[in-house]
Amino acid sequence: MRPLIAPSVLASDFANLQSEVEMLNKSQADWLHIDIMDGRFVPNISFGFPVMQAIKKYAQKPMDVHLMIVEPELYIEQFRAAGADVISVHVEACNHLHRTIQQIKATGAKAGVAVNPHTSVSLLEDIIADLDLVCLMSVNPGFGGQKFIENTYRKTEALKNLIIQRNSQALIEIDGGINQQNAPLLLNSGADVLVAGSFVFSAQDPIATIAELKKSSI
Ligand code: DX5
Ligand code: ZN
Repeated sequence: MRPLIAPSVLASDFANLQSEVEMLNKSQADWLHIDIMDGRFVPNISFGFPVMQAIKKYAQKPMDVHLMIVEPELYIEQFRAAGADVISVHVEACNHLHRTIQQIKATGAKAGVAVNPHTSVSLLEDIIADLDLVCLMSVNPGFGGQKFIENTYRKTEALKNLIIQRNSQALIEIDGGINQQNAPLLLNSGADVLVAGSFVFSAQDPIATIAELKKSSI
């Protein structure tokens, strides 16, 4: 099975956002990964609704929105209105995760949960059956261009087992430090969706790089 590829717009040239999105439209990218950072959950601020709406204006592919914000429940409907197709909240940012997942689903978006590198996937045991996506962070969230954390392979396998055990339909997305070397190993561990920021946008030929990632196989 080929992975879904979700290039992270965070690494694109914001001064040329329209042409970056049009490049992604032409490429084999499956989703556009949109990183929202609030300067509180993570020590960085990215962009918000107006930029998302600008991306949506040109995007011909689903927008996969990764909320690295505290109290995400306050903004779910607004993210949906700004064009989100998949919305992931961090397990570490939600006191009432079950309620927030139902809230996302009620908007018609697919619901995901993102998990920091230090958080065990066993915490998802009682929510996994309700999820469309689990985003495993393979770097500490907050910045693009960081080094991939090797423990992610073991975590991906544990999550895959949990999904099978609980008869969940959730896809496994891996986010951070992905490149041509670790992509096949991640697929082998059970990954379905690969997010890639700097590897795609710092390449000479991003379209060819996306195609290479798409060809990754076990
Ligand atoms: C990190 C973000 C990632 C990031 C990935 O906080 O969630 O989506 O943009 O970028 P790379 O591929 O450069 O690690
Ligand atoms: Zn992300």
